[in-house]
Amino acid sequence: MASEARPAGAGSPTPAVRTPPPDRVALRGDLRAALPDAAAAVLVTAAVFGFLYVRMDSGASDTVAVMPFMDDPGTYWMYLLSQAFGWSGLLWAWGTVMLGLLLSGRRPGGLPVRRETLERWHRTTSLTTMALMAAHALMFAAELVRYETSLAWAERLWAGFADSFVPGWYDSGTGQIAIPIGQGALYLAVPLGLLFYVRHRIGANTWRRLHRFVVVVYVLSVWHTLLYGTNVWYGEWPRTVLWLLQLPVAAMLLYRLLRPARRAQRLGPPPGTGAGALAPTWATRALGRVVAAAVLVGLVVVPVSGHDGGRDRPAETPATTPHDHATE
Ligand code: HEM
Repeated sequence: MASEARPAGAGSPTPAVRTPPPDRVALRGDLRAALPDAAAAVLVTAAVFGFLYVRMDSGASDTVAVMPFMDDPGTYWMYLLSQAFGWSGLLWAWGTVMLGLLLSGRRPGGLPVRRETLERWHRTTSLTTMALMAAHALMFAAELVRYETSLAWAERLWAGFADSFVPGWYDSGTGQIAIPIGQGALYLAVPLGLLFYVRHRIGANTWRRLHRFVVVVYVLSVWHTLLYGTNVWYGEWPRTVLWLLQLPVAAMLLYRLLRPARRAQRLGPPPGTGAGALAPTWATRALGRVVAAAVLVGLVVVPVSGHDGGRDRPAETPATTPHDHATE
């Protein structure tokens, strides 16, 4: 017997229109908005990859100067791609940190871009940065898996994963320090970046307090690169440029601390002289400003003095084993 057709809503509950939580909507929207930005990042990565490939092919690569066995870009293309993602990741991290500092400091006069636009750029570039950092580490893991031909597949996969993602596992040369620093940057970047999308749940103040630690992610990323990047290994101009690029970041950080956008974050009069902040808060804020000023001075002194932590290029090429960047 055929059942009778029922008009919608008659005798059955009206199907509820499920609205996804605002956090999820915001993340989905930002992921969509990040597509042009991510496409630009892919182009930059491809350009850097091409540059590194040509240099390795021509024998001019500093990576090969540090690790002579790597003189074949056709074999080591995944390593080169990892390096390229590392550079685009660092460039995007630079950009997103600059945008964040611009937003949290008092708005400089004559800025031709609306605040909402800057905020959107900050969010999309930060999503792209996380993806680039992850791609950098993943390509390094892929290269290790490719390299370990003497192991069985399960062991190969584990070796690549553990050396790249398990802190303390990588046990060779400078990487024993540099890799965990890179991992620290990646593992902090993801929660600190994504907490924005759950700020309704954790509270705007908690989010703001946690989000400021993003500057640690940036410091760790630069530190990791200065320690381990073979293209900035020697005390020559590429390393100097990397140091100099940190000057605007430190200057913006100092400006942001001296002239915060939010009145509540101003230093104010010292405790005991009026309605200023409590003594520990005031002392922490004052210390932050002094440290930022000292970092700025340090960033001028390092390139000018030439004491930038770069190694001396040896007269003869060293005989190194794979992935064993010698500790200086
Ligand atoms: C799981 C985390 C990470 C791992 C396993 C890792 C691994 C490595 C390795 C092995 C190198 C040496 C490559 C060379 O020979 O130059 C390197 C360099 C580099 N890394 Fe990472 N890294 C990680 C996180 C990061 C993060 C978060 C950044 C920030 C964007 C970053 C940016 C760079 C850059 C710019 C270089 C220099 C590449 C070059 O000299 O061409 N890394 N990383």
